[in-house]
Amino acid sequence: MLHPVQLILKKRNGGKHTPEEIRFLIEELSSGRLENYQLAAWLMAVWFRGMDDEETNLLTQAMIESGDQVDLSSIDGVKVDKHSTGGVGDGTTLVIAPIVAAAGGRVAKMSGRGLGHTGGTLDKLEAIPGMRVDLSQNEFLEQVRKIGLAVISQTGKLVPADGAMYALRDVTGTVDSIPLIAASVMSKKLACGADAIVLDVKFGHGAFMKEFEDARKLAETMVAIGRLRGRQVRAALSSMEEPLGSQIGNALEVDEGIRILRGERKGTGLEKVAYELAAHLVQMSNQGLELEAARQQVAQIVSSGQALQKLGDMIEAQGGDRRVCDDPLRLPQAAHKIAFKAEKAGYLGGLAAETIGTAAMWLGAGRRTKADKIDPAVGIVLEVEKGQPVQVGQTLATLHVNDQTHLQAAERALHGAFHIVPEARSQEPLIREMIL
Ligand code: URA
Repeated sequence: MLHPVQLILKKRNGGKHTPEEIRFLIEELSSGRLENYQLAAWLMAVWFRGMDDEETNLLTQAMIESGDQVDLSSIDGVKVDKHSTGGVGDGTTLVIAPIVAAAGGRVAKMSGRGLGHTGGTLDKLEAIPGMRVDLSQNEFLEQVRKIGLAVISQTGKLVPADGAMYALRDVTGTVDSIPLIAASVMSKKLACGADAIVLDVKFGHGAFMKEFEDARKLAETMVAIGRLRGRQVRAALSSMEEPLGSQIGNALEVDEGIRILRGERKGTGLEKVAYELAAHLVQMSNQGLELEAARQQVAQIVSSGQALQKLGDMIEAQGGDRRVCDDPLRLPQAAHKIAFKAEKAGYLGGLAAETIGTAAMWLGAGRRTKADKIDPAVGIVLEVEKGQPVQVGQTLATLHVNDQTHLQAAERALHGAFHIVPEARSQEPLIREMIL
């Protein structure tokens, strides 16, 4: 008879778990028999000692089996999904999903909410007036069959073990562990049933993985887990040193995504990363298509307005006001716009993504705890791009504010976020590597 303490001691001492031990742990967790303090101790032991590929695979499988799995077989065509490991100003789903659906891919996506400095797709979608994300599984499948695209919230029955484990990891300093992130992300992606998955694995200041090499190891682990189960999986390693988009906050990020699809934000980092990931998904859902041809198709789908139309179709199908696509000012707007100004001249050498995400959270765009309510209208618009010259008194950012209770905390955080340097520096590409 196994006992949780045995597993804690084994991992603490650097041992390798057997399949039975991993299944036992997840069964105990799912049935509510595992005490939180024992799970916390085991998580910390894993954080220090790690798990090898076999253990990580077994953990992923046990987590998938802890709940329901979505059957997408009633939908024709290649079912695609994407996942970002989390960042600031990372509204790529709003751009990628409609492009890929307009190109013929079937986008059946379940997304999450933001926590701490990172944003979540569901919170962004809910900034659109009337938009529902809590579709039943039948409504979800029907919508994908009809318009090729649905983005909804994950039900509590999908990988329930992850919900319980993530909540505890979040408060015990055990989020940034490669095997734990890999099993958490891939169990959810695999339970959602897509044939082709693109992972956007972030590294840098605003990411869980601060170092590129750790992010690459995480990406390789996740790709291997997916391929072992017969799925097509690719991963981008992309920088989260700076926020990806220039608008941070829920309605603000929807606004920026819509403006990209309207062709009003050409050449921005968000546009480049979103188009590249979309091109990979278009290629994966259309075997035989060259990547360069997929890139051209993406550009054509946006310039012809088909992608914007598809986003509108999704918004309407989920009860939202599709007129936001023609007039993004219909999105919730904050009452006050407050300029945050430079105190020093030079060049903008960098913007600390996590700090900016935290400042946006203080304004109410994010949650400090799961119970916090967010304000869809508030956030931060960055007014200067990395590498540009800056004068004293120039507006670096505009704060979109309703409740001013934590305005000072947000402004204090922002003081440390803009790195003004004496000389312009060369820029690195945002996607540093693709795992194909
Ligand atoms: N996102 C997830 O879904 N799980 C993690 O562990 C980290 C990021």
